[in-house]
Amino acid sequence: MTTEQWHKLGPVEALRRQPLQQIVLGELRIALSYADGKFGAIAGTCLHDGGPLGEGTLENDCVVCPWHGYAFHRHTGQCCTETTGAVPCFHLKEEGGDLYLALEPATPVVPSARPPHPLARDPERAPGPLRVVGVSTTIMNRQHPRFSTSDYLLEIALAHAREQGGAETRLLTLNELNFRACEGYYSKGAETCTWPCTITQQDADDQMQQLYEALIFWGDVVLVATPIRWGAPSSLYFKMAERMNCIQNQITVANRVLIRNKVAAFIITGGQDNIQAVAGQLLMFFGELGFQFPQFPFIAHSRGWTAEDMDTNVAQVRASVELRDGSCALAGRCLALAGALLRADQPAASTERGGRKAHPI
Ligand code: FES
Repeated sequence: MTTEQWHKLGPVEALRRQPLQQIVLGELRIALSYADGKFGAIAGTCLHDGGPLGEGTLENDCVVCPWHGYAFHRHTGQCCTETTGAVPCFHLKEEGGDLYLALEPATPVVPSARPPHPLARDPERAPGPLRVVGVSTTIMNRQHPRFSTSDYLLEIALAHAREQGGAETRLLTLNELNFRACEGYYSKGAETCTWPCTITQQDADDQMQQLYEALIFWGDVVLVATPIRWGAPSSLYFKMAERMNCIQNQITVANRVLIRNKVAAFIITGGQDNIQAVAGQLLMFFGELGFQFPQFPFIAHSRGWTAEDMDTNVAQVRASVELRDGSCALAGRCLALAGALLRADQPAASTERGGRKAHPI
């Protein structure tokens, strides 16, 4: 204790007023707590992803990180939400009405023994034939499914990719996946939205993981099929898109492009109109993720604003040779572009800091 270098934090009386505060001493961040008549001091940088612990909350002698909720004991620094890991703790002393902090940590940082999340690996393409991911975003009663025109055309496109294009295909039906809506971590701060997605890291049952795996690691092409709902893509599409913020945000916060040399295209059908707005939304979002588009990147069908005869819509789509041929041709264009991109193998450096968010934060 005698060799410790002490730093005066200030009057005890004033420091007692806040149960938890973040104290910044040059490079050093301290989460200083006061409860039950005792101060506690632990490192103020969260072990999980660097969140400011002193800006969090105090719960049962644990400091809860404001970013994603990991907690650390306010005296020992031991992680309260995991079985391993600890942030350093610091000695304190009171003298002459002031509180002093020992600048050397009393305990070392202990990294979490939890292995890295599988999605944290580098997105390297495994050798093999071209691969097409179909994503159905239509919603229906799971027990009593109905015919979906967008799903119907998607299945035709996938069958064509398999049978004529020699591709492997995988269909993901969002209606059958259980996943939570985005919880808006980005709104706390750009760095708070993590890759892998915070929800996926914390929830082993999160089935968005299937989509992340398929889009980032497995597929060369994604075909997204959506109905038109009040002039917009389906609400399930938006639920998925918001959970993909973390993919785009890696470009913003980490200069990391997860989507490279991949192709996206769309199938849009609706009883009423607004195809152009739906296509515009999809093109903008998938473009910002890093996907590329074939010439004529979507096919669409709508009965138009004045048609209220949905009972004939299904029959029309099923009978339409043009829509069937259009679905096949769309798949063919995607495979041609995906093959060309893989052969050209665009180097990473040429696309970093691309898109709307080209400026560093
Ligand atoms: S950074 Fe603290 S919980 Fe994620």
